[in-house]
Amino acid sequence: MGARFIGWGTAVPDRIVTNVELSQTLPTSDEWIQERTGIKERRIGGTVIGLGVEAGTRALEDAGIEPSDIDFLVLATSAADRLTPNAPMIAHAMGLSCAAMDVNAACSGFMYAVRTAQGLLETGNKRVLVIGAEHLSRFVDWSDRNMAVLLADGAGAAVLEYDPTENDILSFVLGSDGAAAELLTCEHNGFFQMDGAEVFRRAVRVVVDSSERALATAGITADELSLVIPHQANIRIIQAACQRLNVEMDRAVVVIDRYGNTSSASIPLAFADARANDRIHKGDYALLTGFGAGMTWASAVIRWSK
Ligand code: UT7
Repeated sequence: MGARFIGWGTAVPDRIVTNVELSQTLPTSDEWIQERTGIKERRIGGTVIGLGVEAGTRALEDAGIEPSDIDFLVLATSAADRLTPNAPMIAHAMGLSCAAMDVNAACSGFMYAVRTAQGLLETGNKRVLVIGAEHLSRFVDWSDRNMAVLLADGAGAAVLEYDPTENDILSFVLGSDGAAAELLTCEHNGFFQMDGAEVFRRAVRVVVDSSERALATAGITADELSLVIPHQANIRIIQAACQRLNVEMDRAVVVIDRYGNTSSASIPLAFADARANDRIHKGDYALLTGFGAGMTWASAVIRWSK
């Protein structure tokens, strides 16, 4: 028995901002951004609620279910439209009449929300809608090249259903280290600020450590993974983590080139890309792994039953 993923959806703003466009107003270049981050372009615009509604609605359509079939909505966001809960407004706009709450675990947010959903399913809920939605561009100082080239907007969603016979989520390892909180933070009425090099080092360490523990708990080795679906913060972080895990890059899903860092939306955006390219099949093992401000991290081993 356990939780099954039965539907997915994504939404990104129409507006594409290329590296060349950014380099017209910032002391940076397309070459530097691509080489140091892997980003070619990103989507900018929308709102957390608007993008969340779009992605959530698509996930329900993909699952072939109605709004009344959802018992709980968990919204992961680190760039909420307002401080008061955003999830109820998404629920209202989608025609859901269920419990709804926000969680903030920064770029690990989608994974934390899935973990929350798993618990909700084990305690009597039938279907939970998880949405990761971000409007990070609102909290970017567009004269700060450190952050402006990285962060972007978007949303992704998944429907999880309780299943008495199947279980997609084989293991979960979550963690946090508030002692490192100042390395990447955003104050009220402020902008995201980061010690990029130190976050990079810690990110590789926690991704590798939590992934190894998630694999061990699931009872599989890295060789058995069909896919790694990582948070998209920097192509070099993905490469370094995969190298240490002994996973070739052709098993990693990379969408950072098109979307930049969309925090809690990045893992579902990567999942959608893998599915669109027919890279996900029934019975396959995948490692989902995220890290971010807080610092927080989360890794899970999934075996797709659908
Ligand atoms: O999503 C969750 C968490 N976020 C992350 O995981 C991000 C982690 N960090 C990173 O991805 C990278 O550290 C960055 C992309 C932020 C920076 O890359 P880096 O290779 O660590 O660069 P750096 O900070 O060591 O800077 C190297 C050089 C510096 O110049 P000097 O001192 O060598 O002359 C920087 O001033 O690159 C310069 N630089 C830039 N140049 C052009 C820094 N940002 C830029 C830029 N354009 N945007």
